Amino acid sequence: MQLFVDSANVDEIRHAAQLGIIAGVTTNPSLLAKEDPTQPVERIIATIQEIVGGHISVEVVSTETDGMIREAEEILSWLPEATIKIPMIPAGLAAVRQLSRRDIPTNVTLVFSPTQALAAANAGASYVSVFLGRLDDIGHDGIDVLRDVAEIWDMHHMEAEIIAASVRHPMHIVEAAKAGAHIATVPYKVLMQSLTHPLTDAGLQAFLRDAAKRQQRSVTV
Ligand code: G3P
Repeated sequence: MQLFVDSANVDEIRHAAQLGIIAGVTTNPSLLAKEDPTQPVERIIATIQEIVGGHISVEVVSTETDGMIREAEEILSWLPEATIKIPMIPAGLAAVRQLSRRDIPTNVTLVFSPTQALAAANAGASYVSVFLGRLDDIGHDGIDVLRDVAEIWDMHHMEAEIIAASVRHPMHIVEAAKAGAHIATVPYKVLMQSLTHPLTDAGLQAFLRDAAKRQQRSVTV
């Protein structure tokens, strides 16, 4: 399962990219709203593209098909490699259909059920983003939904890639991988949490202590 970072923050993305663990970036309007308002979105996205060079999802904010297509064209005019992120609403499905006929990759976002995932894939989505944390927030089990989607995908050989989104903690990454997601898009903070283990830190401290002791002994001998 590939990892994307779910962020529009250039410093976070640069660090995650340096570690070599991410294959792409997903952004959304809420993530972009946290960044410097004096920077145009296209400049932020261009910087992210320079840093990562892989998948970048950029979301439209229109709620009508024609507006989504116009926005997609604008995004592609400054980033031809962009994947256009489209909300899972009927107008969005029509936009996905039109864009997929033009071989433009799309990521259908705000997917909360297997029927939504199926509709998005049938409309021609390249990616479907199943939201885990927001389902958990309302007392549903996001991983159960993801598991159902993955089972349907396997049974029917669906082509769209499943992205586990709205990831809130490292166990979501593990459960998403076990459930069959192709990609997990993970906030920077959770990505960093997922790399640490207290036994790694304690083990490293012991190795460093022992290495220093040996060095000291070799100096005094
Ligand atoms: O980018 C879409 C998704 O990952 C957002 O997550 O934490 O706002 O539910 P969250």
